Amino acid sequence: MKTFIRPLDKIELKGKRVFLRVDFNVPIKKGVIQDTHRIDEALPTIKYILEKEAKLLIGSHFGRPDGVYSDELSMAPVAEYLGEKLSYDVMLIDEPDSDAPKALFNGLKPKQLIMLENLRFLKGETDNSDALANKWASYTDVYINDAFGVSHRAHCSVHALPRVVPMRTHGFLIEKEIKNLSYLTESPKAPFGIILGGAKVSDKINIIDRLMAKADVFIIGGAMAYTFLKAKDIAVGSSKVEVDKIGFAKEFLMNCERKGKKVILPVDHIVSSSFDAVETQELKFIPENKMALDIGSKTVQLFSDEIAKLKTIFWNGPMGVFENPNLENGTKSICAAISKNEGFTVVGGGDSASAALKFGGDFTHVSTGGGASLEFLECKDLPGISALKLNRNELAGLNRIEWIAEEVTEEGEG
Ligand code: 3PG
Repeated sequence: MKTFIRPLDKIELKGKRVFLRVDFNVPIKKGVIQDTHRIDEALPTIKYILEKEAKLLIGSHFGRPDGVYSDELSMAPVAEYLGEKLSYDVMLIDEPDSDAPKALFNGLKPKQLIMLENLRFLKGETDNSDALANKWASYTDVYINDAFGVSHRAHCSVHALPRVVPMRTHGFLIEKEIKNLSYLTESPKAPFGIILGGAKVSDKINIIDRLMAKADVFIIGGAMAYTFLKAKDIAVGSSKVEVDKIGFAKEFLMNCERKGKKVILPVDHIVSSSFDAVETQELKFIPENKMALDIGSKTVQLFSDEIAKLKTIFWNGPMGVFENPNLENGTKSICAAISKNEGFTVVGGGDSASAALKFGGDFTHVSTGGGASLEFLECKDLPGISALKLNRNELAGLNRIEWIAEEVTEEGEG
């Protein structure tokens, strides 16, 4: 059965009370936001809602406070940033489940918007509570989800709430994520290369399986590469290896060989005897007492040459411990090589997005989702997106003329 979501620009917003769920779970140190990417990416939706003269309330989670208030996990720095960006008075409501927004909505003046404190200060948020959903729905006319990064969680503000409001849809950020990520699963131009890094093979098994049929080349760096090298009986010293994933790695390498897919692994390494890597060496072979913490210069060249030939790229996971300046070269160089590629380049969220933003560059899309973008690419049903679909009754209520007038969009198979 086809399923549908009502497009935002087909919903009348003037004078309506809008509950906008965003993912402003951004790194904050001592009250200072370290990376505003997620907030900036939600601005087009926020500005659109304000231009349409709706009354806006914004809700987000931040960290994992587990139902307990904490000063450190307050949304205050984000509210301040948003206020400055929009030249709006952002009224932060301390108790996200109070009746305060209801009253505030009535007297909301121009250039004012409401923001709820961290939604995860409430246990009901992560419990996907119906009672909490009904409370928020009691003052919501239109619900908009633009929190792609948390749409893989069945939490109240992304799952229970949209199902009990009169109108619901997603914002422009989610639309952009769906469009760009779907390109990779539907119709990537060949050669399509998947560049993987980061700590664990286990985090990437599903994505490897899912994209196996579409990909032509796998470039593997980061700590996870050492499980693959071990599977090829190459000495890895004391580098991190997931022993229980060696079997998977062997099978993967065999499958790729059989199907004519290239797998490119590191050929030299930056090694050290400790994880903190005060002293590093570049070596071709890793001795027993050393561990690899970044890819070496020959590997950078090998990976970059291959990257230059690709027409579609998906990059997820750093090549080394890039937070340490001694170990950033691999990730920085690969980031630059992807940036130079003129094809369709997508940087998955999480650490690779942080690296892309730290080192800069030009990419088709830098996802705001970590786990969410991986689950989307694995073609899993994201609860926060499924909850926006029009149900059977709503579809039945739309006659043919309304269908045409509303240009209801298609969101894949339901
Ligand atoms: C993220 O940063 O990946 C999202 O905001 C989701 O956060 P969570 O993993 O704490 O649910």
